[in-house]
Parts: sequence; structure tokens; C-alpha cells
Amino acid sequence: MCGIVGGVTSKNITPLLLEGLNRLEYRGYDSSGLIVLSNKNTFNRARSVGKVANLEKKLKSRSKKINGNIGIAHTRWATHGEPSSLNAHPHISKNSVSVVHNGIIENYIELKNNQIKQGYKFESETDTEVIAHAIDFEMKSCETLIASVQKAVMSFEGSYGLGIISSNFPDRIIATRKGSPLLIGIGENGNYIASDQIALLSETKKFIFLEEGDIAEIEINKVTIIDIDGNLAKRPIVISKIKADQSDKGNYSHFMQKEIFEQPQAIRDTLESRITNDSVISSAFGYEAEGIFKSIKQLQIVACGSSFNAGLVAKYWIEDIAKIQCSVEIASEYRYRNPILQNNTLFVTLSQSGETADTLEALKVAKKINSKVKSLCISNSAESSLTRLSDLTFLTHAGPEIGVASTKAFTTQLVSLALLLCSIGKLQKKIDIKQEKEIVIGLKKLPGLLNETLLQESLIKKLASRFKDNTSTLFLGRGTMHAIAMEGALKLKEISYIHAEAYPAGELKHGPIALIDKNMPVIAIAPNDELLEKLKSNLHEVKSRGSQMIVFEDEDSKVQPMESMLVVPIISNLGRISAPIIFTIPLQLLSYHVALIRGTDVDKPRNLAKSVTVE
Ligand code: F6R
Repeated sequence: MCGIVGGVTSKNITPLLLEGLNRLEYRGYDSSGLIVLSNKNTFNRARSVGKVANLEKKLKSRSKKINGNIGIAHTRWATHGEPSSLNAHPHISKNSVSVVHNGIIENYIELKNNQIKQGYKFESETDTEVIAHAIDFEMKSCETLIASVQKAVMSFEGSYGLGIISSNFPDRIIATRKGSPLLIGIGENGNYIASDQIALLSETKKFIFLEEGDIAEIEINKVTIIDIDGNLAKRPIVISKIKADQSDKGNYSHFMQKEIFEQPQAIRDTLESRITNDSVISSAFGYEAEGIFKSIKQLQIVACGSSFNAGLVAKYWIEDIAKIQCSVEIASEYRYRNPILQNNTLFVTLSQSGETADTLEALKVAKKINSKVKSLCISNSAESSLTRLSDLTFLTHAGPEIGVASTKAFTTQLVSLALLLCSIGKLQKKIDIKQEKEIVIGLKKLPGLLNETLLQESLIKKLASRFKDNTSTLFLGRGTMHAIAMEGALKLKEISYIHAEAYPAGELKHGPIALIDKNMPVIAIAPNDELLEKLKSNLHEVKSRGSQMIVFEDEDSKVQPMESMLVVPIISNLGRISAPIIFTIPLQLLSYHVALIRGTDVDKPRNLAKSVTVE
């Protein structure tokens, strides 16, 4: 999704803006731009379609360089108006106001029609340009820039994170947010704004997270924040724990590859100080969790994409092991369907970014339907819209995930959900000490098992060549492995652009088996569990229709290889909790290597955004 960076400093701001844009690239975008106020208080703007590198090239080729101490910049992911230089941000109104915007102004057509009558001329097809004109209009009757912004935003319906500069007030940036993330960075040589800490990590580790409706005035050595009711607000300065080099690729070719290989450490970090030798610590989910967990009768998990797939795995675990009812739903469906939410439900949102608009709205809907319901957010982002709105927060501690395709965020979500299973199960006396110990010991073994599994990369790389000219793939699994098959299919389609679908293997005969012939490869996951024999029968059904198959199995599953069926043993003796986590790895590696062979942009696949902050 779109990214914002800006600052007012004693140095030339342009290099910082470009560095910030490069760091925000992972969020997904199709154009970028920046604007700087020159010493003569005039706007100097550059915009470009495609990569930030194109913008850098454009800046280098200019005879008149863009220099100054104050500026704002943006990566745009097109929503209103095609990706083009004219639609790229920043937008300007009458050489007095310039704006960068994340979010969507839903009533922009109505505002635009009024502004045309007021004499404003539009150069883009975006919803953002009305923001610049609205602020310029208010400046005629307001004495300060912040007051003009305060007045202008009152007419906006929708969501926004905004960075605003004005040639009439050349020493300050105004930042405001509603429904889109925005933060302030406090630096040695100035102060900054960004939609994500990562953009500013080379400059500062001190951040102020703006709350819903806050408007901030940012000067070189002063930050003033006004809250949604117009009162002066004090927001804490948070020291970021993210290391600047965590957002570099290191020795890996892609962030995705790096993040796949970071999973053993990410899981260690997720478990750290959450477990003892044999149990989950009682405060792992926060001190208020105990009372809440004791009283709940069911769980409602809501999420999108990979996070939804993690939720599906948890449903199997929670109902099977803790015998507590658990429903899982796609957030974009939940938010619009008037669901029933019983008292004593724990409403769980899963979100790597903590900013996914549909998940956030689903939580708001849940709170509206039943204000008594308590919420837990499992997220990789400490300061996010979802964590702020939830009663309880559990952080996955995966570290920044830059590759658009979720990898370590997914497996650490599974680990977090296993801890949730233990915490609730134990407090409700549905899981005894022995079961808990078994799960905890199993979780502790995971980093070692993952390292072992990652050693299979070269074998999986060889398998990937089979998919070079492939157009479709079917993934099969049963039980939790159906959810892992869904995750495998999602990975393959998003980074290699091969159509992929996942089915519970038992469902094959109800339709999808019609698709199977020699051109439809099938990938199956065969753990050594109570459904193994049933899965083996399903594999025979597929085999007899001529499909080329790859079966990832537990060494103890002993699937008999047949003609055109390759059986790849992963690791033996996996339990109910560790199996879905371990079997995720070969599927991630396979997608990665298929994408490499097909030459796609692995870390930034087409049309996708890392954090989907608009509907
Ligand atoms: C898939 C992927 C997406 C996200 C989804 C939810 O690889 O990354 O499907 O899982 O957009 O994002 P979060 O977890 O940030 O809410």
C-alpha cells in the first residue's frame, strides 16, 4: 500500500526522503514522488511511475537539483486513477499547499464538484487532490496551517494519513491520521513523519505514534499534537526495537529468502520469555488475560490471507485439543454480514501488520455488535491500529517482514496460536499438565527441526524446475494440512503467478478431480496422522488420472512412490502442533524457487501490497 515519509531538518532533506522511499518499497506501490521547499519557498517536485530507482534517475538527470530542508514523499498504490506521473503524489494546490496521502477520500467526487465551482483546476484523477485544494481554501480564512487542516479534514469522509507542507509556512509539516497509520520520528537534526518506522530507522529510533484523529505540527525542534477534540495532547515517545539492518537483505538474494531462513530465530524470539521448561507462563498474553481466558466459551478468529490460513490451523487445534468451539472467518466477509457474536466469545484478530483495513473494521463491527466481547490481537507490529483497539495484544516478535509474501509472520502466528491454545486450555482445565508439557517441549524443538528442514533447499530447488511452464497446480491436505495446502497455494500464486488451488483431499471426488490430467500437477502433504490412510487412498485416485505428483511426507508416513509420483520425506515423528509449521517450509521454498525460475519480482509481486490499509 502507499507509503509516506517527510521531514524538517537542518540538512538537505532529499537523500532522507529517497532512503525512506526505498525502505518503504516493500509495502507495494506503482509510482513515487517527492516535493521539497527550496530556500526561496517554492515547491520543487519530482514524480515517476514504477520503481523508486526511476525517481532517483529522474532526479539525477535534472539540471536544477531538488534541495531544501523540508519535504514530503510518497509511494503510491493506485486506487483512484491509473498509475501515472500525474496521479503520483505529492499533489499541489495553487503553489501554496502540497499533500501526500494514504487512504481513500470516499466523498471526493462531491468535494471535487464544489471545488471546481470555487475555481480550482484538477491535474489528476486521484481522490487526494481535493485534500490539497480543501486546505488551500481554508487557508484564506485561517491564520495557521494547522487550523486550515483542522477545518479541511472535517469535510473528508473515508480514511487518511496525511503529510502537508505549505509555502506560506515554510518551517513546518502538518501530519494527521484517521484510519491509516502515521507516526512522528524525533531526530537529532530535525523531526520527521512516516507511515512505517522502517522508513526512518536510519535517522532515528524515537517515535511518537499518532492516535486516531490527532493533528500534529512538526517543526525542526518542536512537535505539537492536538487530539480529535481539539485539545493539546501528550503522546509517549517509544524507542523502536527494530534494528536498521533488519530491513537489509544481508547475504540473501531476496527478503523472502532471508525471511524463510530467519524462521528458526523468529520462533525462538516468539517463545522467549513466554514459556518455562514445561509450561506457558501465565502472563504471556498480558495480566488481564487470565480472567478473560477463564470465562470464554468460544473463540472467533478473523483475519485475511496468510493470517486467515494460520487461523484455520488454530481452529483444528483448539477444537481438537482444548475442546473449545472456534470459528474462523475472512475479515472482509465478517465485517459486512451482520454476524452473531455471543457473550463470552474471545474475538481474535490475526495480522502481521496490524493495519489490514478489513481486519480492523471487522474488530470494530464486533465491538459494535457486542460491546461485552473481549478482543485479542496477535500481531507482528507493536504499535498498530489493531493492537491499539484490542483488549489484549500478543506480539509475534518475527522482526520486520519486508517480502510481500508472508513467511516468518505466518509460522510465528502458528507458534503464538499454539501458546494461546495452551493458555486457554490450561485455565479452563481442558488441557492437563502433561499435555501442556508435551506441547511446550515440541515448540522448543521447532527451531532445530526448522533448520533441518531448511537444509532441503537444494532438493526443492531442483523440483521447482518442473513448474517453469506450468499454468496450474492443485494442493491437497487433510485436517490442519488443508490449511497448510491453502498457504502453499497462496504462496505459489502470489509470487510465481501460477494459478493454484488447495482442496481438502477428501473433497476431490466432489468436483475438482475433473481437473486432473497429466497437465495438472498435484502437491500433497502427508503427515503421519490419523488421516494418513485416507489421504493415501486420495493419492491413488489422483495418480490413476495421470497427474504428476509431489508428496511431502513425514518419514514415518511411508507413502509408496508410484510412477510420476515423487515422495519427499521431510522429517520424522512430527506432532500435531509441529507438523503444520514444519510442512510450511518446503512449500515456501518451492514457491520461492519457482518464482526465481519464472523471473518474477519475488519481494514485490505485481499488484500486491504488504499491508492492505484500504478496502
Ligand atoms: C500472503 C500475504 C497476505 C497477508 C494479508 C493479511 O503472503 O502476505 O495474504 O497475509 O494481506 O495481512 P496482515 O497479516 O498484515 O493482516
